[in-house]
Amino acid sequence: MKFAKNKHKKQHKAHSREAGTMSAKADRHALYEMSVQDVSHEYDFINKTFRKIRGYKARKLREDFCGTAKMCCEWVRHSTKNTAVGIDIDAEVLAWGKKHNLGKLKSDARKRITLLQSDVNKANTEPAQIIMAMNFSYQLFKQRETLKKYFKTVQKSLADDGVFFLDAFGGSEAYSETEEKTKHPGFTYIWEQERYNPITGDMTCHIHFHFPDKSRMRKAFTYEWRLWTLPEIRELLLEANFSKVTVYWEGTDEETGEGDGIYSPSLEGDADPSWVCYLTAEK
Ligand SMILES: C[S@@+](CC[C@H](N)C(=O)[O-])C[C@H]1O[C@@H](n2cnc3c(N)ncnc32)[C@H](O)[C@@H]1O
Repeated sequence: MKFAKNKHKKQHKAHSREAGTMSAKADRHALYEMSVQDVSHEYDFINKTFRKIRGYKARKLREDFCGTAKMCCEWVRHSTKNTAVGIDIDAEVLAWGKKHNLGKLKSDARKRITLLQSDVNKANTEPAQIIMAMNFSYQLFKQRETLKKYFKTVQKSLADDGVFFLDAFGGSEAYSETEEKTKHPGFTYIWEQERYNPITGDMTCHIHFHFPDKSRMRKAFTYEWRLWTLPEIRELLLEANFSKVTVYWEGTDEETGEGDGIYSPSLEGDADPSWVCYLTAEK
């Protein structure tokens, strides 16, 4: 599942993580993985889409903004030929991923992952067939020039047959200051869009976790982003010298009217109040 983005804003009491509470015992990275990431779905999408574009399977993945490197682990688990490089600027999240995710892999698979603590713009990596930047992480680049610079860095870091995968979100609800709660076994995940500035496009978002014993982990994660529109992202990718940019739009389940989880190349989307899509940018 992706970051959720809607519903009504509510006031909350201050952060409370008293000793002995469920919140104090909880691990924010584990909760994040359970509520935000679906690496098996993402693996299927990037693996199948690359094969459709190039006619063969990709082997070399680079995961930008990799966080706990869950996707790197998923990638190397699927084939002994697969290698992955994960890049994140934060040593703490990388150490967590090393212990909890890479630590669970067999040693052969673990050896096929390299984790780099670096700014994505500064990392010097072997040419990758796939570079991915998921969960909208590139939105931390707030100016046209800084986002274009990152896209250019990605373009240059790809192998000749390389494809860049990223996601985007939007719809009328994306521009409102709202909160959405999703229940999970043992905790509730809350996605809060605290502030959206229509003049700059800047937004401040938080992830909170609430627990059945009423304890709370407020602002477990905070994101200072610019909410880029799809036309802007497509234009910037082309300006960064990618040869072809494709948007994959989610289909609709005819019975429920909800998204069906199947993303196909599209030139026309519906004006849904809240949508998430994928893009590919070919070198
Ligand atoms: C929203 S998380 C994404 C985690 C994961 N890739 C996912 O899809 O859920 C964003 C990550 O980007 C990292 N980050 C922020 N700025 C960065 C930069 N300039 N270079 C590399 N990593 C960065 C943060 O440390 C954080 O772990």
